[in-house]
Amino acid sequence: MAKVGVFGAGWVGLVTGACLAELGHDVVVRDVVPAKIDALNRGEQPFHEDGIPDLLARNRERLRFTLEASELADREFLFVCVDTPPTPSGDADLSRVWRVIDELPALAGHATLVMKSTVPVGTGEKVRNGLDERGLQALGYVSNPEFLAEGTAVRDFMHPDRVVIGASEAADGDGVAALYAPLEAVILRCDVKSAEMVKLAANAALMTRISFINEIANVCEATGADVVKVAEGVGLDRRLGPHFLRAGIGYGGSCFPKDSLALKQLASNSGYHFQLLAAVIEVNELQKRRVIGKLKAHLGSLQGKRIALLGLAFKPGTDDMREAPSLVLAARLHAEGAEVRGWDPVADGSGLAGVTLVETVAEAVAGADAAVIVTEWPELAGLASPEVHAAMANPVIIDGRNLLDPAATRAAGFVYEGIGRPAPARVAGTD
Ligand SMILES: NC(=O)c1ccc[n+]([C@@H]2O[C@H](COP(=O)([O-])OP(=O)(O)OC[C@H]3O[C@@H](n4cnc5c(N)ncnc54)[C@H](O)[C@@H]3O)[C@@H](O)[C@H]2O)c1
Repeated sequence: MAKVGVFGAGWVGLVTGACLAELGHDVVVRDVVPAKIDALNRGEQPFHEDGIPDLLARNRERLRFTLEASELADREFLFVCVDTPPTPSGDADLSRVWRVIDELPALAGHATLVMKSTVPVGTGEKVRNGLDERGLQALGYVSNPEFLAEGTAVRDFMHPDRVVIGASEAADGDGVAALYAPLEAVILRCDVKSAEMVKLAANAALMTRISFINEIANVCEATGADVVKVAEGVGLDRRLGPHFLRAGIGYGGSCFPKDSLALKQLASNSGYHFQLLAAVIEVNELQKRRVIGKLKAHLGSLQGKRIALLGLAFKPGTDDMREAPSLVLAARLHAEGAEVRGWDPVADGSGLAGVTLVETVAEAVAGADAAVIVTEWPELAGLASPEVHAAMANPVIIDGRNLLDPAATRAAGFVYEGIGRPAPARVAGTD
């Protein structure tokens, strides 16, 4: 069993550390945020992600948490799982990666640095040079991008579609591949740059499908077709498959928005204008704002109207608010003069402008002129109830995720509008 060190106790670092401990490795996770390490040392989970508490409890003996980089001196593998947020130019900010390199302790024996953070193509080469300049020629380097999705992160790590390992020295790649051996996963071996690009290209392909189906939804709205049926029919084509064809109010989260910007910027820094990706990003921005148009079509001016935003996290199963569509909706509604109440079962709504956060769906919809489903939490599947109908001032539901059944919701007396589905007659200008 290997001695593994992990830099970063966020979604990727904690899941990587806990899952490698579950596979039998001895793991030390280091972060720079004392509150996070204190919580983990008390056995508490610092963010919401299913499956982590069990892993932490089961692997106490093999999993330690520390603020000290020096405690990773005896590790054979050093996973870099720090955040790489966008800079104002859209490029990835690699300052945390460089900080890790600067803080590497004097290593006891041969070790390999394993890059799991999402980084621009060419980063591995720069890091390799940086390591060499610091006299760390013996430290191996491997690119091993992570594909987990929040909400299903533990399952994704333990049952990956593939593990990508990019290395210039085959022996370094072999060592990292051996760590994953118990998973019996498909392993793609390649050079460092190609591994870096696999991650960016896979995310771009997923975002392209989302923006594609959202544009199809918008054409469905203009022509009376139902995007849910259209997506089903398209997805049954074996050449296409059903995934990421769910129309909605656009993607958010800590990865897609920043990784798309980073790839677009990487391309333009290299002299190439990535037109398709630029359109994917623009479609996504416009998609979030279409909800405002739908609300106005039913309510007229939004000034003084009470709107319930249901679901605030960028997707169900996580409390992550980074780049959540709710942030854009809240800001737009605030600017329109609406009175907004927000509810989420786990997210704290941090960063929302002008929103009163409430504990229950009932509080959110009380007296509301419209309710917007922003995140498809399972708790919202029963929204079209007689109690909610009676509580709302105006029983309008805008379903940003096509979670509810349109016919049943309308039969329950609601004015219902989804995304890309035949809409009811609108009554613009009425109160
Ligand atoms: N969240 C995802 O779904 C996901 C999926 C695949 C890849 N990624 C990529 O993985 C990377 C990490 O993402 P995340 O969501 O886990 O980020 P995160 O912000 O949740 O966690 C990063 C952690 O690194 C810590 N950190 C910063 N500097 C450090 C240092 N010098 N030493 C030790 N710890 C340090 C931070 O305090 C933070 O706890 C990013 O590049 C991201 O794009 C994320």
